[in-house]
Amino acid sequence: MPSTPVNSRYQHALASLRETPHHWLITGVAGFVGSNLLETLLRHGQRVTGLDNLMTGYRANLAQVRAVVPAEAWARFDFIEGDIRCLDSCRRACQGVDIVLHQAALGSVGRSIADPILTSDVNLIGFLNMLVAARDAGVRRIVYAASSATYGDHPGLPKVEDHIGRPLSPYALTKHVNEVYAEMFARCYGTDAIGLRYFNVFGPRQDPRGEYAAVIPQWFDAMIHNRPLRINGDGDSSRDFCFVDNAVQANLLAGLVDDPAAVNQVYNVAVNARTSLNELFAMMRALLAERFAHMEGYQPEYGAFRAGDVRHSQADISKAARLLGYQPTHRLEDGLHEALEWYVAHTGAPTP
Ligand SMILES: NC(=O)c1ccc[n+]([C@@H]2O[C@H](COP(=O)([O-])OP(=O)(O)OC[C@H]3O[C@@H](n4cnc5c(N)ncnc54)[C@H](O)[C@@H]3O)[C@@H](O)[C@H]2O)c1
Repeated sequence: MPSTPVNSRYQHALASLRETPHHWLITGVAGFVGSNLLETLLRHGQRVTGLDNLMTGYRANLAQVRAVVPAEAWARFDFIEGDIRCLDSCRRACQGVDIVLHQAALGSVGRSIADPILTSDVNLIGFLNMLVAARDAGVRRIVYAASSATYGDHPGLPKVEDHIGRPLSPYALTKHVNEVYAEMFARCYGTDAIGLRYFNVFGPRQDPRGEYAAVIPQWFDAMIHNRPLRINGDGDSSRDFCFVDNAVQANLLAGLVDDPAAVNQVYNVAVNARTSLNELFAMMRALLAERFAHMEGYQPEYGAFRAGDVRHSQADISKAARLLGYQPTHRLEDGLHEALEWYVAHTGAPTP
């Protein structure tokens, strides 16, 4: 069975939420990470406003949260369908908010290479709008989704926050510029922001569809439905895969931390483990083989390396541990178990 270490600082933070509820804004609430944040905050007695234009998110994600939380918890949620590129929508969403968890962005390195203007528009103008709206509304803290893509071509492993390379894609550049904007806002306007550099987050509600889907949902979908699966490159590329509960923990700790030394910083959010794509494939195939006979003999196809992809990635998480009290509760294996249940239940019947 998966082991789930208890993080006492996180448990304490969750308990404090119940004693002193806050009003949170989650941008990108109908997306993968956003809807997981929503579920946790509602379960812990919080009031939540959500902002999303449903560009890559789904009402179905919100419906799933509604189905699993008590009715009184759902009543504490307000959804605004709106675009972060519209300052008025950001202002409306920030009204009365204590803490912002800014997730809305266009993800995917590939999408940004295909359409750098669209990605930059959403990820840069949208980010700036949120900073301005949060500042003017007197929001106490803005926690935002940064990215491991910011490490670019820096060869060092594990990745340490202060050592970044040159961006390898427009997406990577936008995420780095977000950090620079947040830091400048702190100097210029005294705002409080914390950036979380996510490393390959995965879990329930991550979209398996479309050409820009992330590797784990795409592979679960292909394996469950017995469709061909392609590994980009030789399969030796490696990642620090991070189950979404770890990312939720980092967001809540960052939203609540009151140590001044912890604020206006960026943090790696992952596990500090490195798994190659070939190893990931073997783990997922073994997991699915316990349930689906068609996995016997199932093999991947290999394709070209993708432009903009970094070769290896692994996070040093000691800064988040030290200043936020972050301690991942889920290793890759634990997260794959939980994610598989969701993909089996939600992506249609398996194909024999
Ligand atoms: N999932 C990962 O592995 C990962 C890794 C690094 C960084 N991130 C970052 O984490 C955040 C969340 O990613 P995710 O995986 O949940 O992606 P997602 O696509 O599931 O969620 C993003 C949400 O933002 C919304 N959105 C997009 N453009 C918008 C706009 N203009 N106005 C309002 N809403 C808009 C989408 O509709 C979607 O619901 C993003 O900022 C992403 O760049 C994710």
